[in-house]
Amino acid sequence: MSYTVKCFECGKTITDNFADACPHCGGLLTVEMDLERLADLTPADLRKRPIGVWRYAPLLPVCEAKAITLKEGGTPLYDCKAMANKAKLKKVYVKFEGANPTGSFKDRGMTVGVTRAVELGCKVVGCASTGNTSAALAAYAAKAGLECVVLLPSGKVAAGKLAQAMFYGAKVISVDGNFDDALNIVKKLAAEGELYLLNSINPFRPEGQKTVAFEIIDQLDFELPDRIILPVGNAANIWAVYKAFVEYRQLGWIDKVPKLTGVQASGSAPIVDAYRHGTSDFIPQDHPETIATAIRIGNPASGKKALKAIYSTGGSAVDVTDEEILTAQRMLGRSEGIGVEPASAASIAGMIKLVEMGEIDKDERVVCICTGHVLKDPDTIIKSFGKVHQAKADLASVKACISAKD
Ligand code: F0G
Repeated sequence: MSYTVKCFECGKTITDNFADACPHCGGLLTVEMDLERLADLTPADLRKRPIGVWRYAPLLPVCEAKAITLKEGGTPLYDCKAMANKAKLKKVYVKFEGANPTGSFKDRGMTVGVTRAVELGCKVVGCASTGNTSAALAAYAAKAGLECVVLLPSGKVAAGKLAQAMFYGAKVISVDGNFDDALNIVKKLAAEGELYLLNSINPFRPEGQKTVAFEIIDQLDFELPDRIILPVGNAANIWAVYKAFVEYRQLGWIDKVPKLTGVQASGSAPIVDAYRHGTSDFIPQDHPETIATAIRIGNPASGKKALKAIYSTGGSAVDVTDEEILTAQRMLGRSEGIGVEPASAASIAGMIKLVEMGEIDKDERVVCICTGHVLKDPDTIIKSFGKVHQAKADLASVKACISAKD
């Protein structure tokens, strides 16, 4: 676990453990693992260990012996035949990240991020969040015995996520603004030394999150998919997945990287706009809006990294409407029994759209990463799907409900 923190943009080495941007050029930070030291390691060595984030400890920049873990990762990879039929694709897999301890992929990043906080001797951790990051951080901070402060965009966090942050004992602050406003404030708090920042601009977070790709490789026995599709919000996760494949390729364990495809909601799609214009930077949007509140982000902090991941793998980016998201969410639930939150269903909606547009070849083997659990956002379900039939407490009344057409 020898590594260097570097600037993603100017490449300089960063020595300040608390920097969240490059002191030379303001660029994003990234962790560069010293892979030469792992020359003797083989995939078989790793696969002797139980599947989960810590199976990949030699590729993580923190000390496993001190890990703050809730046994995250090891989530199912479902072979979704009904979904493949509906999308007219050869093979569709869903990597169900809702099966993580707090119900989203953020747990992968937080087990590493909070372990790092403990290694650095921090007492207070914090983040801005559209909900899932705060739920995960609150839980891992509780496990580590740290104080936790979370800043949430007022009125725009799904009920399950808000409940989790409160439940695990974080100080929950509802900010009268959107996620981008909350992130700006929490960065200032971190700069003043009030807390250790655990948003995904902290380069240790994507290190944990990259394990989702290692698991997909293991679960497919190194028969790599042609494409991986995932939702993009603050834009670190697609970078994390990219980094994982690049590391395995550097180790000589794989020889290609799947096309990475990012999906955003139409009301909140700066990365898709940049992709359409072929630019390596993006123009922030002032008023992002979507039912998929997890990805309601106009100024994705890791946007440049996401674009690099997309361009260098020959992937793409596409936006989907709220209606397409809800249709995909229902389709996945009712054809496969997999319950995901709206942002996660964006990956399914994006896949369907790209097949229709002819951008995904029908012979492709596709993995959709579904990032969060359906119970994160019960209100959207109750508002958007199905109906509850009201019966009197007698057999005839219940039978009448059963035979009702709607
Ligand atoms: N899916 C879900 C369920 C999310 O919660 C998020 C991000 C994403 C996808 C996008 O991932 O930001 O790495 O591109 N949620 C963050 C949060 C912003 O605060 O919970 P990304």
